[in-house]
Amino acid sequence: MSPSLFFAAIFCGSCFLLFVGSADAIEEWEWKRLTRKRLPKLRSGNRLQTVANESAEQARTVAKPDVSQHPLRWKGWRSVSVQSIKDESPDCRSFVFVPSEGEPFPPFLGGQYLTVRLNDPSTGKKVSRCYSLSSGPDEPHYRITVKRVPGGKMSNLLHDTIGVGDQIEIQVSKGKFHSSLAESLSRDPQPLNLIAAGIGITPMLSMMFQSLNERSDREVNLFYQVRNGIDAPFLTPIREIATMLETTTGVRVHLWFSKPESDDIQPGDAVGRLSADLIVDRLGHHRGEYLICGPDVFMNAIADGLIERGAAADQVMFESFGGKSKSAGALAVPACDPCADGAGADGPESDESVGWSVTFQTSKKSASFEAGMDGLLDVAESLDVEVDSGCRSGDCGACVCRLVSGQVKYDESPECDLEDDEVVLCVAKPVSEVVIDA
Ligand SMILES: Cc1cc2nc3c(=O)[nH]c(=O)nc-3n(C[C@H](O)[C@H](O)[C@H](O)COP(=O)(O)OP(=O)(O)OC[C@H]3O[C@@H](n4cnc5c(N)ncnc54)[C@H](O)[C@@H]3O)c2cc1C
Ligand code: FES
Repeated sequence: MSPSLFFAAIFCGSCFLLFVGSADAIEEWEWKRLTRKRLPKLRSGNRLQTVANESAEQARTVAKPDVSQHPLRWKGWRSVSVQSIKDESPDCRSFVFVPSEGEPFPPFLGGQYLTVRLNDPSTGKKVSRCYSLSSGPDEPHYRITVKRVPGGKMSNLLHDTIGVGDQIEIQVSKGKFHSSLAESLSRDPQPLNLIAAGIGITPMLSMMFQSLNERSDREVNLFYQVRNGIDAPFLTPIREIATMLETTTGVRVHLWFSKPESDDIQPGDAVGRLSADLIVDRLGHHRGEYLICGPDVFMNAIADGLIERGAAADQVMFESFGGKSKSAGALAVPACDPCADGAGADGPESDESVGWSVTFQTSKKSASFEAGMDGLLDVAESLDVEVDSGCRSGDCGACVCRLVSGQVKYDESPECDLEDDEVVLCVAKPVSEVVIDA
């Protein structure tokens, strides 16, 4: 490719990138103005087939930041300011963060999450939870979108006490739930199939924006199950995106309404509950990566069904927003992973942990580590010992405590920062009697 052609391809790509990067300005409908300016250019000479070759070249040649090694990544907690707040539906609220001071935010991988920490005025203690980033991965600000959970601590604190200009603490973006980087670089990438229900839409938005930034020709299918047009965060901008992008990019949006109001349904929308069969029928194939996020029942049914219908098991991933159920946790795993349903817990590997006594020193409580437990956090929760948790996959660091005595093992090394005398409760298993400072 000649330098000028290369430059033209990049230029074309950066036009697109600017447009996609502005998608977070969905809030101000700024992106609409930008697309009006840019889409005619794309439409006139660069329809999907035409841009495909350029996009493949662009994806391969544009230097990708190594996000995990980015120099702007920080350790521990960082104070950020709330720049704006917006309700996306009656119970889902977006918070946009900008740096309070110091360095700009580093980019992240679409699908990753932030761990957010606040002071709980009712107890005086800090509370932290994980929230998927719903903004584009290389925008100068970060956005999370939080659903209010009845009785929930953090979601209600965020909704009720946090206003524009307030400071909160965050950790750097983390998480393994993202699309394959290798796939987006290939000349003929497999489709990227994003399947969300309700608030599970948040990681899908950042993945869709990332894919569009990388290349506009990739087939991206966004399946979105909502109840109706009201309880559906981001529905309006998603519809707008679908209309804007369908002739110039590979993005297709498929909306499913389980209990629509009379004026919710538009041409192409479906009524009912999304299933693996319906997804494969709508796609007309079972190729590509599948990333699923929503209630556990929804994810399990869709993941199992997709594999039964022929999807490659190692291409089916899901992210659980957690809670305290056993199958939850923030683990983004191939659905076929034997550990995903707890089956691995009874395997020979975990046997050496079963039966060891676990003592929580401050709470003065002890219990044995039992078969089927994922980590010491399960023991703490069974005893009602107060410990924080977030991702339940060793990433966020919320559950880190001091190990007073004893030894633990990790099936997979945790990714959070850890001092020598600390232990990551959610993924640590005892291999001797242990005493924890909690
Ligand atoms: C990787 C990851 C990404 C996530 N991304 C998002 C996202 O984008 N958006 C989002 O909204 N959430 C997201 N979550 C979920 C989020 O982290 C929180 O779990 C969620 O906001 C609930 O937190 P909470 O503190 O409000 O509820 P908690 O206080 O943790 O309560 C959790 C549950 O326990 C129940 N409960 C609490 N107290 C009691 C009690 N005394 N008695 C009985 N039941 C009780 C609550 O009703 C609730 O069902 C994500 C989670 C993970 C792990
Ligand atoms: S809960 Fe996130 S590291 Fe344990």
